Amino acid sequence: MNVLIVGGVGGIGQALVTLFNDVGYNVFATYHRTPPSTSNGVWFKCDVTDEDSIVKLAEALPSLDVVINCVGILHTCNAIPEKTIQSFDVDFFKHNIETNTLPTLLLAKHLQTHLKSKHTTYFVALSAKVGSIEDNHLGGWISYRASKAALNMSIKTIAIEWRAKLPRCCVIAFHPGTIDTPLSAPFQPRIPSHQLHQPEWLASKLHQLLNKLEHSDTGQLIDYNGTKLPW
Ligand SMILES: NC(=O)c1ccc[n+]([C@@H]2O[C@H](COP(=O)([O-])OP(=O)(O)OC[C@H]3O[C@@H](n4cnc5c(N)ncnc54)[C@H](OP(=O)(O)O)[C@@H]3O)[C@@H](O)[C@H]2O)c1
Repeated sequence: MNVLIVGGVGGIGQALVTLFNDVGYNVFATYHRTPPSTSNGVWFKCDVTDEDSIVKLAEALPSLDVVINCVGILHTCNAIPEKTIQSFDVDFFKHNIETNTLPTLLLAKHLQTHLKSKHTTYFVALSAKVGSIEDNHLGGWISYRASKAALNMSIKTIAIEWRAKLPRCCVIAFHPGTIDTPLSAPFQPRIPSHQLHQPEWLASKLHQLLNKLEHSDTGQLIDYNGTKLPW
């Protein structure tokens, strides 16, 4: 079985590389700026916001059983998520869309043929519950929320198209909960300790979920417990 972990050096990505390697998958993974510190897996340097970089990645990969996109940003060294619309910044908004939405579209475009199979395959994008329009009761974080809402719409749309073209492929947006990684680090003091989980815990939860999901579960936003969330 072949798995591609996109963003394999991130907090969640690293844990997934380790888990899928431990359970016997052939692991392919990408890194961006920081080279991997593990010898597990076959690694490719890839900027997933750049289509040429994804084309080269696709050309180098074999057929795939599972693709998991773990790339994303919530804050940068210059910007934090907006509390109000008055903090809205055009460049930060574009950076959110470019990193949180665009890569999944490019990956779907260039890995479609890799996922065609007679058995069930999985195309998973790490999303976030804050991207759910129906679940938005607090406001704030408008660029991140909008980029994940656009990601969710992308997943739903790809799932509908692939029902005919890749009928065995299960396409889902996945909400990991709050995981102890650099992405969540600035916000962790506000999180009750029982709600903050380690990446290894999450990797195991996602692996268990994929073992349960059928191709007919395609086109959903699903959390770490396997609960379907409203779009
Ligand atoms: N952690 C949480 O609590 C949480 C909650 C909800 C959703 N999520 C989602 O889960 C996903 C993974 O988050 P995480 O917590 O593991 O974050 P993380 O530890 O910050 O990892 C994010 C990874 O994305 C990579 N990346 C950023 N821009 C890239 C680009 N242009 N090309 C390739 N890679 C790029 C980063 O690599 P470089 O540093 O080298 O750029 C980094 O390895 C994200 O989509 C996030 O929105 C996380």
